[in-house]
Amino acid sequence: MKLGLESQVALVTGGGQGVGRQICLELAREGARVVVNDLFAERAQAVAREIQEQGGQALAAAADITQADQVQQMVETAAHHFDAPVQILVNNAGIIPERREKGGRTPAFLDMPMADWAKIVNLNVYGTMHCCLATLPGMVARKGGRIVNIISEAGRIGEANMAVYSGAKAAIAGFGKALAREHGRHSITVNAIALGAVSHEGIKDGPLHIDATVQNNELLAKMVNLYPISKGVGRLSRPDDISGVVAFLASERALFITGQTIGVSGGFTMV
Ligand SMILES: NC(=O)c1ccc[n+]([C@@H]2O[C@H](COP(=O)([O-])OP(=O)(O)OC[C@H]3O[C@@H](n4cnc5c(N)ncnc54)[C@H](O)[C@@H]3O)[C@@H](O)[C@H]2O)c1
Repeated sequence: MKLGLESQVALVTGGGQGVGRQICLELAREGARVVVNDLFAERAQAVAREIQEQGGQALAAAADITQADQVQQMVETAAHHFDAPVQILVNNAGIIPERREKGGRTPAFLDMPMADWAKIVNLNVYGTMHCCLATLPGMVARKGGRIVNIISEAGRIGEANMAVYSGAKAAIAGFGKALAREHGRHSITVNAIALGAVSHEGIKDGPLHIDATVQNNELLAKMVNLYPISKGVGRLSRPDDISGVVAFLASERALFITGQTIGVSGGFTMV
């Protein structure tokens, strides 16, 4: 199926590793010109280089998406560089800071310092809003655009020890639905993809490490039982299980899909 993404300018936040990196590579393979955003310049540059080495077009764009002025500057630089506004926005950056910083389990809500709420909400919610604010005017002017928000199944069903993260991801879904209603008349679609556990190269240890198998990792062996498809294939999802769905939603072929949340989680939830 031809997706028709040739020459479209796509901005992917947190594109420097993991799910975001694979989305960048997939969109570039489909012919899009990709703005690879990341907080860490060297990550963004490495992925942009990877795309260029494969014959694609990419711009590395280091910016902290929690800062509205940095996002605005990045979007203007991208439009100038590619001589076209961003037509596809993938809001992917979003982590659970306390787990990454402290390792291991995340705390229950009552044990969580308030300062950590802000980190999660700022990155997931405000980061997404800043990027929509900066790119929507260009999409409205061209009467077309695609926004794909990467959320989590935690945002749909709630997950213990991830209360603030669950709330932040649910906020993105609600925000996206409202934008889908406001901008349907401009032929702009806004959808969310809900992920389950994804293993990738950026995860250093544990059941989500890319080399973990049901044979060598006891926790992974337990986790796959929560995901109907994972029981069959013996692994959790990987970035390339997700990137093709993003490319489809970003395409003209998906024009009549808007305001939806699509689970790409091996059946973790079926809502
Ligand atoms: N990996 C999973 O199991 C999983 C599960 C459910 C949902 N998700 C969601 O999928 C998305 C991607 O997850 P991942 O595991 O690939 O994440 P990751 O942490 O491996 O990568 C995220 C990237 O975003 C960048 N980033 C962080 N803060 C930023 C900021 N302020 N500005 C710009 N870039 C920033 C990081 O540098 C990193 O390269 C996230 O939204 C996450 O919540 C992931």
